Amino acid sequence: MNFLEERILKDGIVKEGNVLKVDSFLNHQMDIDLFNQIGEEFKKRFEGKKIDKILTIEASGIGIACIVAQHFHVPVVFAKKAKSINLEGEMYVAEVESFTHKTKNQVIVAQKFLNEGEHVLLIDDFLANGCALQGLIQLVNQAGAEVEGIGIVIEKGFQTGGRVIRNMGYQLESLAIVESMDSEKNEIHFREQ
Ligand code: G4P
Ligand code: NA
Ligand code: NA
Repeated sequence: MNFLEERILKDGIVKEGNVLKVDSFLNHQMDIDLFNQIGEEFKKRFEGKKIDKILTIEASGIGIACIVAQHFHVPVVFAKKAKSINLEGEMYVAEVESFTHKTKNQVIVAQKFLNEGEHVLLIDDFLANGCALQGLIQLVNQAGAEVEGIGIVIEKGFQTGGRVIRNMGYQLESLAIVESMDSEKNEIHFREQ
């Protein structure tokens, strides 16, 4: 078991509906020493890859991406979520449908912060159905930039996102892949990696 899986077992709480609460260390209160370990691990897993920029999505991705970026020494750009906005200025826009919330949203990023030919590492806290990630990939493609890799902290392996993204040919690295959870016993099983 790796450092993150150990932490999830120690402090993660399984809620009904296959929701894993990790807000004491990941996406509300944030353990920055843990984030640094996460950054170090991504640096290892993407060793030898040329990374010019990290792209994430608000809100929970931002803190993680910032600490990860200290290990890559590159800027972080975060995509913004919007509910059908009037587009001012030059933005890339992708439509994102959430299975979970049954809503349609847009994710946007200013064109000046994603450029043709750039090598981009995508970072996010969770991967479930992968809709947000698909939106980020679209933004990178619109820019003529390249997705060099995808780093996810926790993947819910029993949802479809991971399989779909790997089948698209991307190097997707998830530091913990939850295979199943039980809210009554507060039990979590990880995929062997
Ligand atoms: P999708 O259907 O649109 O693909 O979305 P998905 O279910 O993958 O995730 C919807 C939101 O819920 C995302 O956050 C995601 O990070 C979060 N999420 C999904 N499963 C879990 C879980 O088990 N535990 C926790 N803590 N979060 C989960 P978001 O809406 O983008 O919001 P933000 O928190 O990043 O602002
Ligand atoms: Na997120
Ligand atoms: Na989230």
